[in-house]
Amino acid sequence: MSYLLSLKLHNFRCYEQAALGDLGSGLIVLHGPNGAGKTNVLEAVSFLSPGRGLRGAKVMEMQCRDAGEPWAVAAQVETKHGAVRLGTGLDAQTEKRTIRINGENAKSQSALADYVSCVWLTPQMDRLFIDAARERRRFLDRLVFAFDPGHSGRTTRYENAMRQRSKLLQDDDTPDIAWLDALESQMAETGTALAAARLEFTQRLQRACDKSDSEFFPQANISVNGTIEELLGNAPALEVEEMFAYQLKQSRGQDARAGGAVTGPHKSDLAVRYAAKDMAADQCSTGEQKALLIGLILAHARLIAAERGAPPILLLDEVAAHLDETRRAALYDLLESLGGQVWLTGTEEKLFEAVQDKARFFEVKDAQIKPAQRPACLRSVS
Ligand SMILES: Nc1ncnc2c1ncn2[C@@H]1O[C@H](COP(=O)(O)OP(=O)(O)OP(=O)(O)O)[C@@H](O)[C@H]1O
Ligand SMILES: [Mg+2]
Repeated sequence: MSYLLSLKLHNFRCYEQAALGDLGSGLIVLHGPNGAGKTNVLEAVSFLSPGRGLRGAKVMEMQCRDAGEPWAVAAQVETKHGAVRLGTGLDAQTEKRTIRINGENAKSQSALADYVSCVWLTPQMDRLFIDAARERRRFLDRLVFAFDPGHSGRTTRYENAMRQRSKLLQDDDTPDIAWLDALESQMAETGTALAAARLEFTQRLQRACDKSDSEFFPQANISVNGTIEELLGNAPALEVEEMFAYQLKQSRGQDARAGGAVTGPHKSDLAVRYAAKDMAADQCSTGEQKALLIGLILAHARLIAAERGAPPILLLDEVAAHLDETRRAALYDLLESLGGQVWLTGTEEKLFEAVQDKARFFEVKDAQIKPAQRPACLRSVS
């Protein structure tokens, strides 16, 4: 299992300096008023795994306003390889994110995946089922990425090839055909691999969803809707690649006028249904949508635990506030049974009363973080 033992922030968003120690596995509660800095802490934790973090922000956005030195996040992490020091921050010269593992620079962010995997749920995700397909596609790709860091490279290569093809089709009346063919073959190859990875992952996630028996966080039926995914259900990948390349060739005229490409995995959507009601998620009530989403995130965490042998670090931003007392208690039970480190935030300390003897509490106020001086929780946390 991997979990943070301690965390330090330097010039990160609203924090000039902040430190949290004695974290341990299990539940960690950050409570405090709006704008205090709770989500910023979760975002800092999310940067200890590969990717663009829980807000999908650009690396310069994290720089604390008016602070000179570049931002940095450091953590002592307990892992299956023993305790490891992980660090990340802004390299002022390149304006890129640097990664340090036990004091040594790592070549790429993907090195972090060996130590930490993070799964999160934020209030922005509440609209996931009613938002545009793009958001759900990104959500699905992030879930796949948690297992397979190569997934992000595939997506980037596909999108780059598509962009270059669009430019060629739109800017040039007599485009270089050999170059077009090469770009389309790259789109076909990476696009098919991308769709296959989504499809295969969705089937595994469905099996994890099917194992859930919580009455409060209902089972979901999930599938990926997309032309390439559909073709993959009926033909081997190599054939699908050829068909996709052929389709691209056929749609050059149309794509020159409209931009992008008429078909491809950049148009796919993640379809989610409330299994017991057989109802599309976007038709469900707000509370049902939230419960479905929590159920999906928990299934994903269980899948990571089963396949990797250790649960991920869960970052649940303002999840407790949306649930009634019974559902909150059910959530805390599920989180405990998962057995990993879980970060929870909320404006009210009383939302976490049910876990007051089990969780570590921190009070966040005006960009200061203090361990809550509550005898009950200090006494009984082992
Ligand atoms: N780069 C930055 N430099 C300085 N302050 C920043 C930066 N980015 C964000 N902030 C500030 O950090 C503060 C805390 O934000 P955060 O989202 O962590 O609050 P929160 O405690 O989660 O609040 P809420 O309960 O409303 O969600 C905000 O006031 C925000 O304006
Ligand atoms: Mg917040």
